[in-house]
Amino acid sequence: MALIIRDGRLNDASDLAALMCELGYETTTTEMRERLGPILGDARCSTIVGEMDNKVCGMIGTLAYASHEHNDLSGKIIALVVSKKQRRNGIGRALVAAAEEDFARRRITRVTLTARFEREGAHQFYEALGYARTGFRFAKNLRAASAPLTRRSNSSQG
Ligand SMILES: CC(C)(COP(=O)(O)OP(=O)(O)OC[C@H]1O[C@@H](n2cnc3c(N)ncnc32)[C@H](O)[C@@H]1OP(=O)(O)O)[C@@H](O)C(=O)NCCC(=O)NCCS
Repeated sequence: MALIIRDGRLNDASDLAALMCELGYETTTTEMRERLGPILGDARCSTIVGEMDNKVCGMIGTLAYASHEHNDLSGKIIALVVSKKQRRNGIGRALVAAAEEDFARRRITRVTLTARFEREGAHQFYEALGYARTGFRFAKNLRAASAPLTRRSNSSQG
């Protein structure tokens, strides 16, 4: 069966929600539609899907962002998943290649991503595609802010 690589669309929401569930993030179709609205409308974001037999079987989501560290834009792979039944068929490789082409079109040469320690298959996948381990990810869940901000923003100065 032929693999089609194309841009994601709002009506992929159901398949993309199922893929997020496989990635470990319980997501309904309605929630995915709500997420896709702003993502698809944001020129910094790309959503690329792999489709076989009229069904989305994998996706990659990326972000092109400005940073304080570099003069040019950097790229980040935000999400990547291939449906369990379709793994080890080259779909992940094809999705990353499409994302790298998209970054190249945007003149981006630096690409990073984070992967949980337990995703060992993904670590081997990225290394097979030429990505190197360069650091750790630190994460913290912040409580919803109720205290006033201690930092003065420019907008409050009028
Ligand atoms: C990681 C993932 C996207 C790879 O997709 P895939 O379509 O199965 O990968 P490919 O078939 O394109 O693999 C390309 C190469 O990567 C390597 N590779 C892929 N999966 C691997 C695994 N589980 N263990 C070791 N090497 C692996 C192999 O070298 C493979 O080439 P080969 O099959 O010719 O040996 C897929 O396993 C997945 O969705 N995993 C769960 C979600 C996840 O961990 N996402 C990443 C979050 S950061």
